[in-house]
Amino acid sequence: MSRLESFIRRMQAQRDCINLAAELVRDVPGVVWEFGLGNARSYDHLRETFSDRDVYVFDLEPYAPMEFRPSEERLFVGDVRETVPREVARSHGKVALLHYDVGLGHRPDDLRLAAELSDVIAPAIAPGGIVMGVYELTLEGAETLPLPDGIAQGRYYIYRLGQA
Ligand SMILES: C[S@@+](CC[C@H](N)C(=O)[O-])C[C@H]1O[C@@H](n2cnc3c(N)ncnc32)[C@H](O)[C@@H]1O
Repeated sequence: MSRLESFIRRMQAQRDCINLAAELVRDVPGVVWEFGLGNARSYDHLRETFSDRDVYVFDLEPYAPMEFRPSEERLFVGDVRETVPREVARSHGKVALLHYDVGLGHRPDDLRLAAELSDVIAPAIAPGGIVMGVYELTLEGAETLPLPDGIAQGRYYIYRLGQA
């Protein structure tokens, strides 16, 4: 598969999973967390899809154009190893959806970071809330949910934490 084809499929998977998440958390109150602002593509889709919820973003060094960034109070700048534990402590059970798209493009390091954060994020997630993203996460007691139709296994991961 060409890199172009792979990129298109990754973006389709991201869009379809975010759209599915909107249905999955319809009855779960809470905010949305986005890990990884990047070019703000997924953030922009999240804020459009979850226009009735607050969307908070975590990123090391935001570089997206200003009009696609969240306001200062909704953007946590810094290494997620530092910013996330701090916000988890303040947000127990308040996150309905966490979309994980953090990485620097070096797969072994990115997987290690995902494993590290897996141990930290669970307390922030509301009962019945969803965690999803490009990497497999190890979330104790979480149920792995099926992907939307047409999305290949392993392209995305969707988990539901402790049912409401
Ligand atoms: C693939 S990009 C995110 C793409 C974005 N979701 C989009 O749709 O445009 C990954 C992002 O993770 C961020 N990142 C990488 N390592 C990080 C870390 N340790 N802490 C916080 N952010 C990090 C990078 O700055 C980058 O913006």
